Amino acid sequence: MVTGANGQLGSRLSEHPVDAQMHLVPLGRKELDIADTESIKRAIEVHRPDVIINAAAYTAVDRAESEPELARQINATGPGLLARACAEHGIDFIHVSTDYVFDGEARRPYRPEDQPNPQGIYAATKYNGEQQVEEAFKSLDNPRWWIVRVAWLYDVRGSNFMQTMLRLGRAGKALRIVQDQQGSPTAARPLAAALLTLAKHPSRVPSGIWHCGTEGPTTWFEFAQAIFKEYGLEVDASPCSTAEYPTPAKRPSYSYLDGAAFAHALKLPYMPWELELKNEIRALENATGDEK
Ligand SMILES: NC(=O)c1ccc[n+]([C@@H]2O[C@H](COP(=O)([O-])OP(=O)(O)OC[C@H]3O[C@@H](n4cnc5c(N)ncnc54)[C@H](OP(=O)(O)O)[C@@H]3O)[C@@H](O)[C@H]2O)c1
Repeated sequence: MVTGANGQLGSRLSEHPVDAQMHLVPLGRKELDIADTESIKRAIEVHRPDVIINAAAYTAVDRAESEPELARQINATGPGLLARACAEHGIDFIHVSTDYVFDGEARRPYRPEDQPNPQGIYAATKYNGEQQVEEAFKSLDNPRWWIVRVAWLYDVRGSNFMQTMLRLGRAGKALRIVQDQQGSPTAARPLAAALLTLAKHPSRVPSGIWHCGTEGPTTWFEFAQAIFKEYGLEVDASPCSTAEYPTPAKRPSYSYLDGAAFAHALKLPYMPWELELKNEIRALENATGDEK
């Protein structure tokens, strides 16, 4: 069962091809509100899932600064409720979290066991969600939960950093793009594939916190340059600093997640971010008219 099925990651999970042994039940917010105990209870009774993947979240990083209670309900209370329901019913639980739980002070790739120190409301609520998930399974002898942190999610469709850069670039605007934040862009489609592999082969990965993503790091500016290059766009783009582009929420200056162990455990390639970007664009070119 997939929650948040209409979101960037949720929609990729929902439409990912699966073999005959797997039956996907994608549920959008209308079918399953993760912040509502009754809604969770009903969905579990009706669909009787073996695994729940939680792709539902409040992801408006800056808006969260002025809507802390809503962000907390969706990013912290919701995952806690889902995790407790899973623990009670013996359902495997896969929860997605973020690189923003870290403060960015590290100068080597972040490992799952590194101490989070969230800097904004979104980050703090996501970290609290992680804590509630862990807590829900604490008393079980054989807990089956996975928190998978990911960074800089994008897709060749929808609305995200990549699509914003393409829109502005095609509009012929001169762009200034942040150069002093480092991370690893992660495409939604391969992330969905990795999470479904985990759902199918849970014994490959011990329960706990994992980091998933691409080999990097890069900066937003370099990522944008690579996007423009792949699309053959001549864009007047120059680097700027975070200080020159102030946002309501503070972001970590370095949040590169070390995703090698997760990829190896799942027997999936750990791919350089540039290669994943090329692959996603190629997949789009080969896709049906609908997808384009
Ligand atoms: N986007 C990124 O750059 C990024 C980076 C790192 C980690 N992540 C994490 O990756 C995961 C997926 O992110 P995403 O980019 O796919 O997010 P997204 O596109 O914003 O999708 C989130 C989905 O959750 C739904 N939702 C919100 N509240 C809900 C509720 N109470 N019950 C059920 N569904 C609800 C939203 O529905 P509505 O549209 O109706 O609100 C939306 O469809 C999240 O855990 C996020 O924190 C994202």
